[in-house]
Amino acid sequence: MGGMCGIIGYVGPRDAREVLVSGLRRMEYRGYDSAGVATISDGELQVRKKSGKIANLCGELEERPLPEAHIGIGHTRWATHGSPTDVNAHPHTSANGRIALIHNGIIENFATLKPMLEAQGVRFTSQTDTEVAAQLLGLEVARGVGLAEAMRTICRQLEGAFTLVAIDSEDPQLLVAARRNSPLVVGVGEGENFVASDVAAFIEHTNRAIEMGQGQVVEVTTDSITITDFDGNPAQGRAYEVTWDVSAAEKGGYDWFMRKEIFEQPQAISDTLLGRYSVNGELQLDELRIPVERLRVIDKIIIIACGSAYHAGLVAKYAIEHWTRIACEVEIASEFRYRDPIITSDTLVITISQSGETADTRGAQEHAKEQGAKVIAICNTVGATIPREADAVLYTHAGPEIGVASTKAFLTQLAACYLLGLYLAQVRGTLYADEIAAVMRDLEATPAKIQQVLDDSAPVLDLAKSLLESKSVLFLGRHVGYPTALEGALKLKEISYLHAEGFPAGELKHGPIALVEEGLPVFVIVPPQGRDRLHEKVISNIKEVQARGAYTVVLAEQGDADGTELADVLIPLPQLPTILQPLVASVPLQIFACELATLRGYDVDQPRNLAKSVTVE
Ligand code: G6P
Repeated sequence: MGGMCGIIGYVGPRDAREVLVSGLRRMEYRGYDSAGVATISDGELQVRKKSGKIANLCGELEERPLPEAHIGIGHTRWATHGSPTDVNAHPHTSANGRIALIHNGIIENFATLKPMLEAQGVRFTSQTDTEVAAQLLGLEVARGVGLAEAMRTICRQLEGAFTLVAIDSEDPQLLVAARRNSPLVVGVGEGENFVASDVAAFIEHTNRAIEMGQGQVVEVTTDSITITDFDGNPAQGRAYEVTWDVSAAEKGGYDWFMRKEIFEQPQAISDTLLGRYSVNGELQLDELRIPVERLRVIDKIIIIACGSAYHAGLVAKYAIEHWTRIACEVEIASEFRYRDPIITSDTLVITISQSGETADTRGAQEHAKEQGAKVIAICNTVGATIPREADAVLYTHAGPEIGVASTKAFLTQLAACYLLGLYLAQVRGTLYADEIAAVMRDLEATPAKIQQVLDDSAPVLDLAKSLLESKSVLFLGRHVGYPTALEGALKLKEISYLHAEGFPAGELKHGPIALVEEGLPVFVIVPPQGRDRLHEKVISNIKEVQARGAYTVVLAEQGDADGTELADVLIPLPQLPTILQPLVASVPLQIFACELATLRGYDVDQPRNLAKSVTVE
């Protein structure tokens, strides 16, 4: 099936072959199970597709070069159903040879449509749901209907979520795309235009974009962009300019995007904080657009997210409850929706998503809104679906994150959560202005402190070398150190394929301590000595694992005597209050995972089985 993917379409004077392949490269993080392109040259469709990474497609293009073309579509796939074979790769074509089509999403009624088409004599070449759309479109245009009209017709028949982009060999000036619940943006050039899953695909050519609404079809030629709904009524997109440039989507001398993004974190945090705290000591989240009266009566907060964003949510709970005294739950998005959660109009839901397209998070948000909750989205991608559909949005402004394992997006999600927590405390009067000012001073000092951690990170490489042969790694923490431990373990699982678990340090003795054996690496995040009553507790927990032979890697504040004494390896952290400590403690864990995966020879930016943006449930 279509799965979730990177999609690009181009029409214009440039060499379409180059535009498509370089666009796909920039979107490869969205999926890398297979890739393909289709172009039209001399009125004929040309298709090349290959399982595996884009490099395989490039090999195919060298063996069987495409003739020059000025219109085309390209696709990189993350398979959900149907193995990632050459045949199942996109683009798919119609049996009459006119249509090539790419798809992101899942066509849910393909099993009913397919036999219908087969009964009409259509012969299928793949097992995909996508081919159903291609064949349907082929039949429509064969009846003499224009491509755009044909697209609208089939969109009314298709169920599920999809982005579709198609070309017709008999109309080689026209690109038609449709969107329902999957991402699609239009890139506006001079005498050329683009469509893509995200702006990274065309940012080297233009920074002007149009955000498409749901249930819309766009017709694109070199000099026109026409949007309608599925019934053909004129519709409007929203034009915007992308504020980052192509260099942000390139590695800039780093071996991995992930490493570059780790090192961008001081700047990213500064960008998240920028302009949100005024000189007169007031948090200004004007973009929130939820009346303060409404925020004052909130009696419960539910934070919903997936993956690293969920870990950011777990940290946020500690901060928000502490500062606002509002009860706060945190839930994995895919669990939330289907258990009939208790939501009233006085519930505030906070969704956290880097991409703003994660289907689980979006579905949960939709459910919360239906139940009358107000929703604030914390998001990194301007104009994505989740922020569009939320009542309000707090953008993290981390810039594009390309490495599949989240780093700067995670850290900036933390910063945005802190800002939101303080803002709620300000609105509800649960913190005095000087208390907020004190936290803000600490927050504003974090970019320099993160920089310090980065500057001193060389020993983490040595640590990775010494732990290269480990079979399993544990991460322990208490309070906000616990979600930090979970995130440290997740990074390691994601990119170094190493078994890793994060546990609340106090819970260890209730079970997981049985895992500890001679030489097992155990990372422990220690709260500040002298300023946190949990310090002693965590120190005892280190002793417990050490007594059982663990190899202890201790993340503790510089000068923490107990921590230093118990550490087989000490990773010193700059001073910060406990509640903000994840902003610095996460960083060495990210670096450790990156170093270990690099040493093991894995593709850090594109770990197996994963994709950056998961637009299927
Ligand atoms: C995917 C990514 C994770 C990410 C999660 C949530 O699984 O691999 O790194 O944390 O999705 O993504 P989101 O875009 O919603 O933050």
